[in-house]
Amino acid sequence: MYKHKDFISTKELTLDEIDFILTSAEAFLEIGKREIKKVPTLKGRTVVNLFFENSTRTRTSFEIAGKRLGADVINISGSTSSAVKGETLLDTVRNIEAMSADIITVRDSHSGSVKFLADNVEASIINAGDGQNEHPTQAMLDLLTIKQHKKDLNGLNVSIIGDIEHSRVARSNIHLMKKFGMNIKVFGPPTVIPKNVEVLGVTVAHNIIDAVKDADVIIVLRIQRERMGKLLIPSNREYCQIFSITPEIMKNAKNDVMILHPGPINRGIEISSVVADSNRSFILDQVEAGVAVRMAMLSILAFNRSGEL
Ligand code: CP
Repeated sequence: MYKHKDFISTKELTLDEIDFILTSAEAFLEIGKREIKKVPTLKGRTVVNLFFENSTRTRTSFEIAGKRLGADVINISGSTSSAVKGETLLDTVRNIEAMSADIITVRDSHSGSVKFLADNVEASIINAGDGQNEHPTQAMLDLLTIKQHKKDLNGLNVSIIGDIEHSRVARSNIHLMKKFGMNIKVFGPPTVIPKNVEVLGVTVAHNIIDAVKDADVIIVLRIQRERMGKLLIPSNREYCQIFSITPEIMKNAKNDVMILHPGPINRGIEISSVVADSNRSFILDQVEAGVAVRMAMLSILAFNRSGEL
């Protein structure tokens, strides 16, 4: 079971809680394959998606998830909200809560802000990405995608390649995957590998061949220039020469390696189009799993609020 009001981080999840969320998401994956994809689980509930950063996958999949469950779903974007007139994040969320929202998903550029909201409102809060801190539903959908294809998660070798420092996806995945004894390597420009990253229980690869050669799963990350105060990486052309996943580099990888990327992908920079569109790429499977994971989280939190569905 998962008995909490909110879903903020993968750090404190127990194996039982992860298993419960994945099992529930697997059932929702099946609903997504039906001709009629709607169930009345959240009929009469209100879900608000409050996004202060751009998003294609996360916001849309929360909207689809809520609608497939029968909820009323409202989307608010930061740039069109009264936040631009000086309203605080907490006041914005308290106002949404006053309109009887049951669950509010929040994406914000400040690390820790979503947990602060969760601690200060009664509504259930889901972290849809807070700064460079965490993106827990992304990590859960990555895990579900891997489980669907590898079956046993224990002991898998996972390499995360790219801008680790600014990646909330990397952080949530490391917390989550370590719980399954997965061996995690990170690789990227030294300027975007966090100092003392080994304390998270990961190793640092010294070149791209070392990063890909024993990997069962490679998670490719884009360079998050929007989070860099100063230039920390070489030009796109230089980055591509040293850090990009290309067909040439893939010759060093296992035949059954899975290539994942949270998106948005920058073709020809961190990943070549040939690899992104190859049969080793599970990038669109991740997107499909994202709807199921978000349906699972919305229904679990709604159940926790009332004890009945
Ligand atoms: N993976 C992810 O968070 O994508 P979006 O920024 O499009 O939501």
